[in-house]
Amino acid sequence: MKILGIESSCDECSASVVEDGKHILSNVIATQIDFHRVYNGVVPEIASRLHTEWITSVVRRALEECNVSLQSIDGIAVTNRPGLVGSLLVGVSFAKGMALALDKPLIGVDHIRAHLFAPHLEYEISYPYLGVLVSGGHTVISKVDSFDDITVMGTTIDDACGEAFDKVAKYYELGYPGGVAIDRLSEQGDPCAFNFPDPSLHKGDHRYDVSYSGLKTAVINQLEHFRNGESVMSKENIAASFQKAAVMMLIKRVKRAVKDTGIRTIVAGGGVVANSLLRKELKNIDRTTVLFPSRVLCTDNAAMIAGIGYYYFQQGEYSSLALNASARVDAFRKKYP
Ligand code: KG4
Ligand code: ZN
Repeated sequence: MKILGIESSCDECSASVVEDGKHILSNVIATQIDFHRVYNGVVPEIASRLHTEWITSVVRRALEECNVSLQSIDGIAVTNRPGLVGSLLVGVSFAKGMALALDKPLIGVDHIRAHLFAPHLEYEISYPYLGVLVSGGHTVISKVDSFDDITVMGTTIDDACGEAFDKVAKYYELGYPGGVAIDRLSEQGDPCAFNFPDPSLHKGDHRYDVSYSGLKTAVINQLEHFRNGESVMSKENIAASFQKAAVMMLIKRVKRAVKDTGIRTIVAGGGVVANSLLRKELKNIDRTTVLFPSRVLCTDNAAMIAGIGYYYFQQGEYSSLALNASARVDAFRKKYP
């Protein structure tokens, strides 16, 4: 069973063919990074325009690379939420047109849910596991009992982890995209140069929650001390100290979740899971098996869309041609316990 996946939620224009929800036959990712770098962030209008220009050739290449014809595709899965509405609409409209013209099933996919599915493309994973999803807009620790049964244990009460990486990088002009720049600079920095705070969320409902707003503000406020000449700024030290605080905040909650649930398999996905320190610290969690995708499957890609699309396809969960784009996400609503 071959599913064509299409992903255009933000600044990656991607198409992929995945067989049986597992075998990636092609995964074309055309990144717009160079077009947004000059603005230090994604400009929605530019993003949607580039998707419009690129999508036909990206889909064509994904099919050509694996020598699969349009007719032999069994279904078309497309990210329809969450993301930039203009960008999402390009992928959704394209997929709807294909589904109608080819008379193939259409499957709308929540791409945040797909990030958590991505490790399944590379590993045989048995349930239950603790799902750790860390992206530009979401930070979620969940208990995953089966494909359809996901219980949110903790989430961010304000900013997402990736958002904090991006904002800190922007204020300090560390480079774009922010997370990648901070990861790289941290290699030369001292992670103990600054002691940034971890919010004291450890009770009741907030036991597994994180908060990145305070950390972000503390790091940005430090800039004033540099400007006032109170100390000499080292971008490397700022990057390394921030990265350590951001990662350890999450690791602390994941360890707590392991201890409380007794679940010893951790599965992580999302753009920030490409981070070197986060990968290292997740692996260091005692007596657990930690599975995360290779870096190319952490950030936005259509393979995870095609992969998860196969499971919806098997369950007969198709979308109608009335499928629309939505900026918001409706998954990850349930609360633990
Ligand atoms: O999952 P993703 O590609 O898109 C969303 O769905 O949000 O995640 C993008 C986020 C951005 O905030 C980016 O800075 C961050 O992932 N990111 C990283 C790294 N690579 C990407 N953060 C830290 N270290 C990295 N190496
Ligand atoms: Zn994403």
